[in-house]
Order: sequence, then C-alpha cells, then structure tokens
Amino acid sequence: MSNASSAASGVMGQTPASRGLWSSRFAFILAATGSAVGLGNIWKFPYITGENGGGAFVLVYLLCIAAVGLPIMMAEVMIGRRGGHSPVNSMRAITKRGKLSPSWRWLAAVGVLAGFLILSFYSVIGGWALSYVGTTATGQLTGQSADQIGAIFSGLLGSPGKLLLWHTVFMALVMLVVARGLRGGLERAVTILMPALFVLLLIMVGYAMTTGYFGEAVAFLFQPDFSKLTTAGVLVAMGHAFFTLSLGMGIMMAYGSYLPKGISIAKTSMAVSVMDTVVALLAGLAIFPIVFANGLEPGAGPGLIFQTLPLAFGQMPMGNLFGTLFFVLLIFAAWTSGISLLEPLVEWLEEQKGMNRTVSTLAAGIACWLLGIASILSLNLWSDFAPLGMFSMFEGKTVFDLLDFLTANILLPLGGLLVAVFAGWFMSREALEDELALAPASFSMWYRTLRYFTPVAVAVVFIYNLV
Ligand code: PHE
Repeated sequence: MSNASSAASGVMGQTPASRGLWSSRFAFILAATGSAVGLGNIWKFPYITGENGGGAFVLVYLLCIAAVGLPIMMAEVMIGRRGGHSPVNSMRAITKRGKLSPSWRWLAAVGVLAGFLILSFYSVIGGWALSYVGTTATGQLTGQSADQIGAIFSGLLGSPGKLLLWHTVFMALVMLVVARGLRGGLERAVTILMPALFVLLLIMVGYAMTTGYFGEAVAFLFQPDFSKLTTAGVLVAMGHAFFTLSLGMGIMMAYGSYLPKGISIAKTSMAVSVMDTVVALLAGLAIFPIVFANGLEPGAGPGLIFQTLPLAFGQMPMGNLFGTLFFVLLIFAAWTSGISLLEPLVEWLEEQKGMNRTVSTLAAGIACWLLGIASILSLNLWSDFAPLGMFSMFEGKTVFDLLDFLTANILLPLGGLLVAVFAGWFMSREALEDELALAPASFSMWYRTLRYFTPVAVAVVFIYNLV
C-alpha cells in the first residue's frame, strides 16, 4: 500500500519512473473511489434528486455518468499515465511532445481553482456530519419526532459558532493528512472503511424496507416522469456526474500518473464509476422511504439527509450505535474526498511557488478555511444575501449556493469538456490506442463518444442554461 500512499503526495521534479507506481490495480481503484465516493453520493445526490422530482432526473444522471462521465474519466486517467507527472506538468509534457499549444496546461489550472472552491463549502458540510456524531452518540435522537429532529438541524445551521467549530475540525483533519503526504496509513484505513460504509448503507436500506414505503421510494427514484424535469435539472444532473466522479479538476489525471502500464484504464474507470453510482443509489433507497413514511418533503434541500436518517436512527433498535457508526463512516468518505480536493492546490504551490509541503498545506488550507466562513454565514446571518442576484441565473443564490453552482455546474463540466476536446481532437490517435489498449470496436466507441457526443452534450446543456 505504500506506493498508493505516496500517490497523492507532491513528488514533482522526479522522473515518472522514480515516482513509484500503484502496487496493484486495486490500490488505484481504492484511491480513486476514495476521492469519488463522498458527500456527493450520500448528501448531495439524494437532495438534488428530491429537488428535481426523482426518476427522470435519476435517468439523466445515469446517462451522464455512462456517456459523459465514464469517457472523460478514461481520458483523464489516460492523460495522467501518458504524461507521468502532476496534472499541470503532464499536460505540459504531452503538449510538448505533440507540438501543441502550451496554453493547454490552463486546463489543469481551472481544476486547481475548482478544487479550492469546492473544498471551502464541502468542509462545512463535513462539519455537519462531525457534529452529528456527537448528537447521535449521546442519544439526542432517540424517540424524537420529525419536527424535533428538524429543530436540531435548524439549531445547528442557525449557530455560526458551532458551524465554525466543526468546519475548523474538518479542515484540520484534511490538512493533517495532506501535510504528511498521505503516508499516515489513510489508504489502509480506506480499505476497511469503504466496505464498512457500504455494509452500513445496506443496513439502512434494510431498515427503510420496514417502513412500508419502500415501493414509493423505488417508484420515485426509478419511474421517470419527464414533466418534472427542467432544463436547469439537466444541468444539475450533468454537473453532479462530474462532481461525484471527481472529474474535470485533474484528480484522476494525478492518480492515473501512478497507474502501471498494462493495467486496463477502461476496466478500472468502469469499476470506480459503478461503485460510485451504487453508493449513491443505495443512499437514495435508504433515505426516500423515510421521507415518505414521515410525510417529509423530498425537495427539502441540503438538509435532507440530516433530517431523514436521524429520524431512522432515533427509531430503530440500536439506532444510537448504527447512527454514530454511520456518521463516522460518512466523515471518512468526506475526508478522503476532501484530501483529494486540497491536494492539487498544495502541489501547485509547491511546484510554482517553491514552498515546502507544510507551508503550502497551511497556506492552501487556511485560505480555504477562510472562504468557508462565507458559506457558514450564508446559512444564517447572510441567508438573504445573494451576491450575484442581479443575474437571473444566480437569483436567490447565497454564497454557499453560488459556490456549489459555479463549481459543479460550470467549472467541472468546463474542465471535463476541455479534457474531452484535448484527448479527442489534439492527442494522436496512436497514443490513445496505445494507452487504452482496447479491442478495436470498444476503442472506436469510446473515441467517437469522446470526440462528438461528450463535447456536444456538455456544450448544449451549457448554452441552453446560459440563454
Ligand atoms: N467526488 C466527491 C464526492 O462525491 C467530491 C469531489 C469532487 C472530490 C471533485 C474531488 C473532486 O463527494
């Protein structure tokens, strides 16, 4: 595992061969899954599905994963392995070799910025999960009604002090690991924690089946009603495909650069996408039966899982134990994603500004923590403040909403679009064939999707929403 552990640490200035490689295909899958599976699957997917009316949204989301996300993930991993460096320098190496414009490395810069912006609010949500460990462990949820549980959640959001405390703890956890270059055994922990989270989700689904509303939830998630789908919803579904797979910001490039030659990029990318999707769908199946059984609102927004799952924990046998475990595992999932969000900026500061790892981690982490305070305030004191509210697209969006919207729905798809265009139209076909080593029919399917379908789909959704 030690090779895997060094993967996310900044090791620029070394030749590709001296940087070490993943010890196995499994190690890569694990690290990539650690980044992909996070709050996006368990917190964000259910609530945006609820806000966007269910089935039709889920269908579009699944299509986006398969036809947009997967091809781009393969392209990112492929660029990383071909380039053999951190994202910015991998792009530089490939453009140099192919006599392409060096401006392509800006692509990686967009990613660095996106990661920074995402982590600033991601950490605030990670903080909610941290605070719920205590709430659950101390039995505060036991036997509470939906209203009382709702009040616990509003109490948390209404308290800038509590939010700040937990946001600080979450950022500190992330910085701790990033500063040590991921050598602290986190990868080993992920081997145990990810499957554990999976098992706990299954237990929650099992509980949800006993509520008597499982059928309603399945229908809500899987029976598409297109009258409920808006064009804005399509943008959200597409943006979420990028967000949940950690695409469009160079993470998969960074991880791909450690993937030994001879390991199938297609198979590993597929494994990561499938696991990520399964976790999201399980979360939906655990949450919506509770929503319907208790007459809650599926479109409740970002607080959805913090009001449904606690209700279940307060009612089920050994709920305190399961609940505490659940939030601990959620924190681990968020933690591994948070680390991958900070890593590119830290690497960039090391390479470009010559800072050492500790200093660059402190600089990046503190800046991110500061920006996070704006998200915290937008949940209470600034809840009526919409910084870009004069543009109809951003109407009513608080700082928190805005950061989420800008990153997931604009920066990540833009990054992904550029990856698709770069790999599909600028890299040589021989290089792609050589890296992917697919059967001719599979290769041409991927190549066509990446060249034509993916960029057009992303561009159309973009333009539609801008106009
Ligand atoms: N994929 C992570 C999640 O679903 C979030 C993330 C986005 C991580 C982009 C890295 C890069 O929670």
